[in-house]
Amino acid sequence: MRALLFFALALLPASAVLADTPAMVNQGIGSKGYVWNRLTPERAEAVRKKGDVALGQEAYRGCRGCHKQDAFGRVDGIYPRLTGQYASVIIKQLTDIRAGLRLNPKMEPFISFDAITVDEIADIAAFLSQATTIKENGKGPGDQLALGESVYVQKGCVKCHGSRGEGNGEKLYPALAAQHYSYLLREMELIKTMARGNSHPDMVTSLREVSPNDMEAMADFLSRLPDRRQSVAKAPGK
Ligand code: HEC
Ligand code: HEC
Repeated sequence: MRALLFFALALLPASAVLADTPAMVNQGIGSKGYVWNRLTPERAEAVRKKGDVALGQEAYRGCRGCHKQDAFGRVDGIYPRLTGQYASVIIKQLTDIRAGLRLNPKMEPFISFDAITVDEIADIAAFLSQATTIKENGKGPGDQLALGESVYVQKGCVKCHGSRGEGNGEKLYPALAAQHYSYLLREMELIKTMARGNSHPDMVTSLREVSPNDMEAMADFLSRLPDRRQSVAKAPGK
């Protein structure tokens, strides 16, 4: 059924695909038949490509309005920093958005099938994952850091995101360290309420048990961990 639909969409001209873009429909967690990490045809194609950093820097121009020229986003967390995230994670998030798995209406026009190609997704991911900008990110109040760390450990976040928030590129677990505080907090809320769409079910279960105060403490703790490339001698995956 899904294969048929995909085939039908593939036959339509690009403009018709855009008008009928599946990205507007929530096919994510909570919807019938959701499977975490289902390899969409587009993601399979993107990961096969060898991203080109120079072309990626060029294609990134259309993203600067929000994520900024240095791809560090905004310290108030409205736009996340993208620098230093694993290429595999960036590809998953972008192709999940295009597949209607992660909802991100603000960004949709800029990553629609009309705006960028699958090659450009691979190039942009290569560019962002090696971008070296490391500067002061948005942080929380800093008064509950011990609590934040202990909740992070107790709730099993460490299992996937690592004790230093370094994530794991091979397993598609994002790095969280040194991300902007307000963005981390907002994502936790979106994941908890299943509004984000493409979440791992174990993470939703863990976050359900976390109080708003503990969530703030965790986001603060994570925002203050050093960039994964500073704290981990050799990061797993890439
Ligand atoms: C109009 C503003 C806007 C533009 C332009 C934009 N983005 Fe975004 N982007 C956002 C917002 C807002 C979020 C966070 C959404 C959320 O809270 O879930 C985001 C999230 C992301 C994420 C997920 C980050 C993560 O940690 O999971 C990636 C990757 C990303 N953008 C890449 C891009 C790329 C590549 C482009 C250009 C092709 C782009 N964005 C253009 C607003 C924008
Ligand atoms: C089973 C592995 C797993 C566990 C356990 C887990 N996560 Fe995640 N987390 C993920 C994955 C995978 C993503 C990326 C979304 C996706 O593609 O599913 C993610 C995304 C996130 C994000 C958004 C990052 C971004 O850049 O947008 C935050 C914040 C987060 N997790 C926090 C937590 C916290 C806090 C816990 C513990 C309560 C936790 N996670 C437990 C796998 C996990």
